[in-house]
Amino acid sequence: MSDDLNIIRTIGRGDVVPLIRRILAENGRDYVPAYGAAALCLLAVAATTAFLPWVMEDIVNDIFYRQRHDLILWVCGSVIVAFIIRGLASYGQAVILARVGNNLVARYQRRLFDHLMKLGVGFFTATRSGQLAARINENVTGIRDLLGLTLTAIARDAMTLIGLVVVMIVQDPVLSAIALVIGPPIIWAVNYLMRRLRKVTREAVEVNSRLIGAMQEATQGITIVKAFTMEGQLSNKIAQLIEHAEGRANRIARVSERMTPITEILAGFAIAGVIAYAGYRAAATGEPPGAVMAFITALLLAYDPARRLARVQVNLERALVNARMIYEILDLEPHQSDRAQAVELKVAGGRVDFNNVSFSYAADLPILREVSFTAEAGKTTAIVGGSGAGKSTLVALLQRFYDPSGGNIAIDGQDIAGVTKASLRRQIAYVSQQPYLFEGTIRDNIRYGRADATDAEIEEAAKLAHADEFIRQQTQGYNTLVGENGVTLSGGQRQRLSIARAIVRKAPVLLLDEATSALDTESEARVQAALDAVMKGRTTIVIAHRLSTVVGADRIVVMEEGRVVEQGTHQSLVAEPFSAYARFHRLQSRPDEGEVARDPKATAAAKRRAPTTRRRKA
Ligand SMILES: Nc1ncnc2c1ncn2[C@@H]1O[C@H](COP(=O)(O)OP(=O)(O)O)[C@@H](O)[C@H]1O
Ligand SMILES: [Mg+2]
Repeated sequence: MSDDLNIIRTIGRGDVVPLIRRILAENGRDYVPAYGAAALCLLAVAATTAFLPWVMEDIVNDIFYRQRHDLILWVCGSVIVAFIIRGLASYGQAVILARVGNNLVARYQRRLFDHLMKLGVGFFTATRSGQLAARINENVTGIRDLLGLTLTAIARDAMTLIGLVVVMIVQDPVLSAIALVIGPPIIWAVNYLMRRLRKVTREAVEVNSRLIGAMQEATQGITIVKAFTMEGQLSNKIAQLIEHAEGRANRIARVSERMTPITEILAGFAIAGVIAYAGYRAAATGEPPGAVMAFITALLLAYDPARRLARVQVNLERALVNARMIYEILDLEPHQSDRAQAVELKVAGGRVDFNNVSFSYAADLPILREVSFTAEAGKTTAIVGGSGAGKSTLVALLQRFYDPSGGNIAIDGQDIAGVTKASLRRQIAYVSQQPYLFEGTIRDNIRYGRADATDAEIEEAAKLAHADEFIRQQTQGYNTLVGENGVTLSGGQRQRLSIARAIVRKAPVLLLDEATSALDTESEARVQAALDAVMKGRTTIVIAHRLSTVVGADRIVVMEEGRVVEQGTHQSLVAEPFSAYARFHRLQSRPDEGEVARDPKATAAAKRRAPTTRRRKA
């Protein structure tokens, strides 16, 4: 199941040109008007910049050399106009391109989130959520830099440079040739540095996201951190990551800043060469200095955009690394997507059949082996078994979080592999072993069960789940905000909210995975009574470790080591004195011990039979 993650590490070292072409193909068309307007502004900027050296010849030759004072007003006026146009056009292109950049960020954020929602559960169990979030954040900013800031710079600087070079060549082709010999070495240096930078940048993004992910995990688990006095250990671990990230950042700086001395030194030679040649030539020919001054002005003005262009290449490379990492996520095939001819699931009674279902998360570590049982329509089926027996996995397969490697699961005779996942899950209400609350109010959290549930239905469900009382005790009642882990609520309260969420869904199939495990005995009894009412008429699969829940079930399925070892009613199973269930029952019947599933004897016996190194869930 870690395939998805490996893909992230290995794919996408492709070429730069196809990547840029893809970004343009996917987004370019929508931005044609904006880019057109920006290009006009940029043209104006370039033209007005090139205008300055162009008038320089007239300024020097006519105003200073030939003393034509009548031209002063005209020349100065045009300079002022040129600068006004340049200022306004610079503003215009900057705003337009920034907006395009922001729009692109929004667009990729939406695409990424929608895509993440389509990926299988396996991707998320194999990926640290904090790291993923941090990486996406860095990557999206990277792509904005690529298409926003970097393109601005490229377009503006390239056009300005072209304008100035045209002026230079028109003014003096020989001097131009002297100045432009530095071009090829700069291009070579840029290419060399980009290759170095590509690798370092990728490493830096990965180190940074690991760092931010680790910090987030530490703060989320802060009570465990403090309880086990892990602060020192964690600080050391984080400090190492920080050192690593700092090192990477320094390396990026060393590599990318190497561009600056290279261009400075080469530019020094070029400018000195031009001055030397022009000086000797002027002494020899005695020509007026206007043309040479115009040339040198153009050369000096060209230096800045040329230098920035050389750097922009380097920044572009960093942005491309990020863009490529985004596409690595976007290109992940949603695991087990719906079949092409998938149909809607139609539920009449809601009978669930497991037929010889086998499954493993990782190759060669079977978790379920040929599991067969039937949960009759409208009846309650209890699954009992030691921790790690594969009970939660059954429930995951029924919802198609994963697909079985053998056998099939059918609801009302329809193989769930052939129906759309959305239609399948609409028919199921699920209370997971780890209750999870989302950012938002308590009301929102219950309404996630069914988007069109009315407030009255939500409160009704909360009452049934025995949550209404504590919800009303909160300062804002149903409108109380709960954090990402619902930190202000206890485990039992969170569990009752997720039961309310399942109740409000009103689905024909109800899956309860140790739904009452975090409740104390008293509230468990009351929630159980409420659940009994909800379970009536619904096909319910309940995983429970307390006898009270199990005894009333229409059928009990006993699991050990991924196999169904016994099934029947409570009466038929206890009648067999040596059955695994009878053993649970004897253990449970001691008045104050309510645990079926945590039977140490059964687990020990299972271990003896299969002395493999199976990882067990605590
Ligand atoms: N996402 C997962 N990836 C790999 N192994 C898993 C995963 N979830 C559960 N397992 C393993 O599968 C086995 C059965 O787990 P589970 O179905 O959760 O057991 P139960 O609910 O009966 O306690 C355990 O050995 C557990 O370690
Ligand atoms: Mg479980």
